[in-house]
Amino acid sequence: MSERISVFGTGYLGATHAAGMAELGHEVVGVDIDPEKVARLSRGELPFYEPGLPELVRKHVDSGRLRFTTDASVAAEFADVHFVGVGTPQKQGEYAADVSQVEAVIETLGPMLDRPATIFGKSTVPVGTAQRLADRLREIAPAGEDVYLGWNPEFLREGFAVEDTLRPDRIVLGVDRDRPGTVEEVARRVYADMLDRDTPFLVTDFATSELVKVSANAFLATKISFINAIAEVCEASGADVRDLADAIGHDERIGRKFLGAGLGFGGGCLPKDIRAFMARASELGVDQALMFLREVDGVNMRRREHAVTLADDLVGGLSGATVAVLGAAFKPNSDDIRDSPALDVAGTLHLRGAQVRVHDPEANANAARVWPTLTYVDDPIEACTGADLVIVATEWKQFRDLDPATVKAVVNEARIIDGRNCLPAQEWINAGWQYRGMGRHSQ
Ligand code: UDX
Repeated sequence: MSERISVFGTGYLGATHAAGMAELGHEVVGVDIDPEKVARLSRGELPFYEPGLPELVRKHVDSGRLRFTTDASVAAEFADVHFVGVGTPQKQGEYAADVSQVEAVIETLGPMLDRPATIFGKSTVPVGTAQRLADRLREIAPAGEDVYLGWNPEFLREGFAVEDTLRPDRIVLGVDRDRPGTVEEVARRVYADMLDRDTPFLVTDFATSELVKVSANAFLATKISFINAIAEVCEASGADVRDLADAIGHDERIGRKFLGAGLGFGGGCLPKDIRAFMARASELGVDQALMFLREVDGVNMRRREHAVTLADDLVGGLSGATVAVLGAAFKPNSDDIRDSPALDVAGTLHLRGAQVRVHDPEANANAARVWPTLTYVDDPIEACTGADLVIVATEWKQFRDLDPATVKAVVNEARIIDGRNCLPAQEWINAGWQYRGMGRHSQ
């Protein structure tokens, strides 16, 4: 059955969710306060890079099932189901999450709800937020008790956002303990297509649903920092962290995924979510429980410093050296440079006196806004031309596939740091390169 849906926020999460809901057959209106974004989306253009999403948005703008507006009252009039997918960034100067955008949606939409409606929060919020918003909604919505709130966290990965939205691993729904029924019924109608395919559907209380999201991200961050901590030990002892990860990853209880040692994690979610989680635990008086996340964060940040130190050693002093940094995005298939280890390393090298030439297939423009003093070029060979050192900082396929001989012909010195352990090391060594991986002392 087709539902009339609104989605507040048209960033990665909101735009993908809106297009995904249209693909499931619903009629969708996306709402954003940014008129420029709305205008572009209405023309089927995306303000960011996400594979497959422009096609999906265009398909449903054309089919008439997806439109965009800046006017919240259009959404309130049109839809009976509202999703909130706005950002919850780290607060400036502290670890806690800033939930003001979520609150602003509730304060704007709530007073417009004069008939029964269901709101699903998708944003990542500190535990306790959903209950507070549910109470607030009852106060400000004219329809009062007929307005329901559910918390429905989103687990999508950038680069796979469409796939993760249409075929999620699981659907989690947090409901108000006192009035659970209606929200679950509505969610079952909205996600009928996925539930028919036996997607696990877990209904919990509000607090659990909020914690599921941050716990999942904290676990992933911990797994990455675990292997990066082991990488430090490998470096000190002459062992190879990739072989080690392969060996421990065969144990099903451990698993090989997210054991990629390298420059560590970045992006709009993992770093800020673990910090917000620590801040919230502290407010709840259980800061000790999450003390280990401080170390997870610390290990992660040390990888960036390690790469810079390694670069300094290899070139015999960064001042005046020319360094090619391949990659600026926090991971491949994305133009997102938020908390990007690649860009952080590039910027630090520059501050230490190196001439830094950056190439990223999609993120050059975003990177140039944050670090205008670096040189950006349109192709990896151009970036490497005349370089004393090449650093692969984001594992784009284009970089993994580079031919060592072709790159060697243009550089000044054949030295490479594989910051993501993504290159065929032996091929580079055979071609005459001085190769350094992360946690791979032997090479
Ligand atoms: C993450 C979660 O995976 C997703 O479920 C959640 O909804 C949002 O946050 P995303 O930020 O898109 O998604 O990226 P992810 O693929 O998880 O990678 C995060 C970072 O970890 C990247 O910088 C990546 O390069 C790094 N990473 C990942 C590693 O350093 N090693 C690995 O083995 C895996």
